[in-house]
Amino acid sequence: MNMEIKPIYPVEPWTITETSFDRKYNYRNETTFSLSNGYIGTRGTFEEAYDFDIDTGLEGNFVNGFYESEQIRYGEANFGSPLFSQSLLNLPNMKETRVLLEDEWFTMEEGTIEDYSRTLHMKDGVLKRSLVWTSPRGRKAEIRFQRLVSFEMKNIMAIRVQVTPLNFSGKIQFRSRLQADVENHTRKTNPIVDYGPFGRRLEPLRLEGEGYRLYYEGITKNSRLTAACGCSHRVSGSECETGWEFCIGELEGTAVLTAEAKEGSAVVLEKMLCYSTDLDLPAEDLRGFILDTLKEAEQKTFGGLEKSQKAYMGRFWNTADIRIQGKDSQALQQGLRFNLFHILQSAGRDGRTGMGAKGLSGEGYEGHYFWDTEMYVLPVFVYTEPETARRLLDYRYGTLEQARERARILGHEKGALFPWRTINGEEASTYYPLGTAQYHINADIAYALSLYLQVTGDVDYLKEKGAEILIETARVWADVGSFAECKGGRYCICSVTGPDEYNVLVDNNFYTNLMARENLRDAKGAVEYLARHDREVLARLKEKLDFSEEEWKLWQRIIDHMYFPYDEARQVYPLDDGFMMRRPWDESRIPEEKRAWLYENYHPLFIMRHRMSKQADAILGMYLHSHLFTKEEIRRNYDFYQEVTLHHSSLSTCIFGIVASDIGYDDEAYRYFSQSARMDLDDYHHNFYAGIHGANMAGTWQAVVNGFAGLRCQETRLKFSPSLPSEWESYSFKLRYKRALLRIGVSRGQAEFTLEEGEKITFYIGGKEICIQENGGRHVEKI
Ligand code: BGC
Repeated sequence: MNMEIKPIYPVEPWTITETSFDRKYNYRNETTFSLSNGYIGTRGTFEEAYDFDIDTGLEGNFVNGFYESEQIRYGEANFGSPLFSQSLLNLPNMKETRVLLEDEWFTMEEGTIEDYSRTLHMKDGVLKRSLVWTSPRGRKAEIRFQRLVSFEMKNIMAIRVQVTPLNFSGKIQFRSRLQADVENHTRKTNPIVDYGPFGRRLEPLRLEGEGYRLYYEGITKNSRLTAACGCSHRVSGSECETGWEFCIGELEGTAVLTAEAKEGSAVVLEKMLCYSTDLDLPAEDLRGFILDTLKEAEQKTFGGLEKSQKAYMGRFWNTADIRIQGKDSQALQQGLRFNLFHILQSAGRDGRTGMGAKGLSGEGYEGHYFWDTEMYVLPVFVYTEPETARRLLDYRYGTLEQARERARILGHEKGALFPWRTINGEEASTYYPLGTAQYHINADIAYALSLYLQVTGDVDYLKEKGAEILIETARVWADVGSFAECKGGRYCICSVTGPDEYNVLVDNNFYTNLMARENLRDAKGAVEYLARHDREVLARLKEKLDFSEEEWKLWQRIIDHMYFPYDEARQVYPLDDGFMMRRPWDESRIPEEKRAWLYENYHPLFIMRHRMSKQADAILGMYLHSHLFTKEEIRRNYDFYQEVTLHHSSLSTCIFGIVASDIGYDDEAYRYFSQSARMDLDDYHHNFYAGIHGANMAGTWQAVVNGFAGLRCQETRLKFSPSLPSEWESYSFKLRYKRALLRIGVSRGQAEFTLEEGEKITFYIGGKEICIQENGGRHVEKI
C-alpha cells in the first residue's frame, strides 16, 4: 500500500462508504459509485440532480457501443487518417427523482442531515444511500435510496426510494424526470479533442407519458443511431388520491405523484429504467421492447432484481475473489475487490461490445476500447468467467471486416489490422504515432485468444472464429516486415510503436517482434491442428480467406528468423533498435509539477529522443512468454528497465510487480502490487473523475495470481510457482481450467491445491507434474 496516501473511504471488507456529502469530492465520487452491467452504465450522481458545473460533476448514462461521430478536424491530415470520430454518447438521464415533503424539496444542501451514508455493496451489486433529513421548517424524515444496474436484465436499471416521515403526517410528492437535454463534457473529459461531440447530439423523435410510464426516443445527429429509453413508477405504502400526472416537453418529461403519508410509516417508490438502441433491434421495435421489458421488470420488483443481482454477484465472487490475510491486508483486500467489481461491471457481454479503458464509468478516452481489454482484463475473465472472455473475443471477431479494410488502407493486401482505438470497429485514433502505429494490438488480440483456447480447451471456438482471427492477424505480420540483409537476413519490423508511448515509430520494438512471432506461431499451430483434426473447416477457411500453404511456409521462415535488438554491453534487449543511442533522461531538468505530464508540457520530439520509457513494454513480453527466457536473462532486463521506466501510465506497475515476483525480487514485487491495488480507490492519478483505469484494476488480480502465485498457461501447461509476500500470512484464490475449478491457498511454507469442481486436473509446480485425480482431492506443496 502506498503508505503516504491516506485511504479516502473507510477500510471495510466488502463495501465502499461515503460518510458525508461534499461538493468538492463529488466528481471523483461519481466514478467510485458508478454502476454498470457491461451494457448500461450510470455515474454515481444523485436522484436530486444537483446543478454541478463542469468541474464538479457529470451526469452520465451510457449504453455500451452507442456512439456519436463527428468529422475530425486535422491541421494536416495524412492518407488513411480516420475521418470520423466515435464518442461514447451521454444519454438521457432518468434517475432524477425529487421528493417534496409538503412544500419543501428534499436537498442535502439545506436543512440538516444526520446518519448519512452512501455505500457501494460490492458483494450484492447494489448502491444504497440513507439519511435523516430535517427540513428548514423542521419536518423530519428518513430517506433511503437504493440503486442497481441489473445483471439479470441487461436493459434495466432500478431505483427504490423510501421516505418515512418521522415527526409529521402529510403529503409526499415524487417528481420523476426524464431529462433528454444532455451533452458530453468533452472539454473537460477529453480536453485534447477539439472536434466534439459538443452540445446536445440526440434529436428527439418522441417523448410520451402515459399511465405510470415515460418513454423517449431520439436519433444522433451524425452517426444516425437511435436510442430509446423509458421508466415506470410504482408507489406503495400510501393511499394516493390521483394517479401519475405528466408534463411533457420536447426534451424532458416529468411524472408527478402525490401520496398521503403517515408519521412513522414508509412510502416507497419503485422506479424501473430501461435503455435500448437500434444497434440491438430495429428502430421500429424499440418502443414495444422498452415497454415490455419495463413490464417484466415491474413484475420482478426491485426486491426480485436485488435477489438475482446478489445471486449473480455470489457466483462471480465465488470464483473471482482473492482473499488475503496479513499486514495491510484489509486495505489491499478492499482495493482488490473494488477493482474486480468494476471490471465485472465494465465488460461487454453481448458479443457486440468490448470494454472501454474507462469501462462505462465516465467519458474519459471518448469511451474507446484499446488493447487494455485483451492484455489486462481478458486474462482475468479467462480464468474466472470464461463465458465473458469469449464474448469479448466475439466482439473482435465481429469487427474483422473493418480490420480487413484497415489493413488494405495500410497497404497490406491480405489480413486484418485491428484499430488502436475504437467503438464500432473502425480506427478512431487521430494521432497515428501513438495510435495506428501500435500494430502490436493485432498480436495482443491473438495472444488473448490463444490464452482463452488453452485455458478453456474450447476447440469449437477455434474452428468457428479463433482460427480466422489468428490467420488474419498473422498475415499482417508476414507483410509488414522484411528479411533485412544488414541484419543477417533476420526479419525486421520497422516504423511501429510498441506499448511504450514515449518511444514511437521505432524499428524493431522488442515487444512487437516477440508478440508478432508468437502470433505467427499460434496461427500456424491452428492451421496444423485443423489439418490434422478438421480438414473441412480448413478447406472452408482456405476458400473464404484465399489462403494457401505458401503462406504458412513464409510464416515458419519468419518465426525462425525474427530479429530482436540486443545490447552486448549490458546483455539486455533494448526497447528497439535506437533505444541505446538516445540521450539518458535527466529527471532533475524537469520541474516537479511537469514530471507526470510530459506530453502536456514538452514537444513529442523532446520526449522521444530520451532513453526512458513511459510504461512496461519489453518486460511485458517477457512476462507473457517467460518460458522463452532464462531467469537470469529476465533479471538483467528487469534491472535495466527498472532504471529507465517512469511508470507514467497506470498500465505499468502491475506488470513490473509480476516480473519482480518471477525473479524473486519479493520486496519490489510487493511494493509494485501495493501501488496498483488502491490506485483508483485512493485516486493516485487525480483523474478518477473521468473514469476507472480498467487495465490496472485487472492488472492487480494478475499481480497476485500471475505474480505471487506465478501462474502461467504456456505450451498447453498450467504452471505455478507460488510465493508468499513476507507481509502476509496467507492468500487464496480460485481458477477455472478446462472443466475444473481449482482453489489455491498459499501460506507460510506451503501451497495447497484443491479440486473443487471437475474430475481431474494436471498442472506443474516448478517443472514437477501434479495430478489431482478426484473431485475434492488435494495436493500440498512445500514452498
Ligand atoms: C497508455 C496505453 C493505454 C491507454 C488507455 C495510455 O496512457 O499508454 O497503453 O492503452 O492509456 O488506457
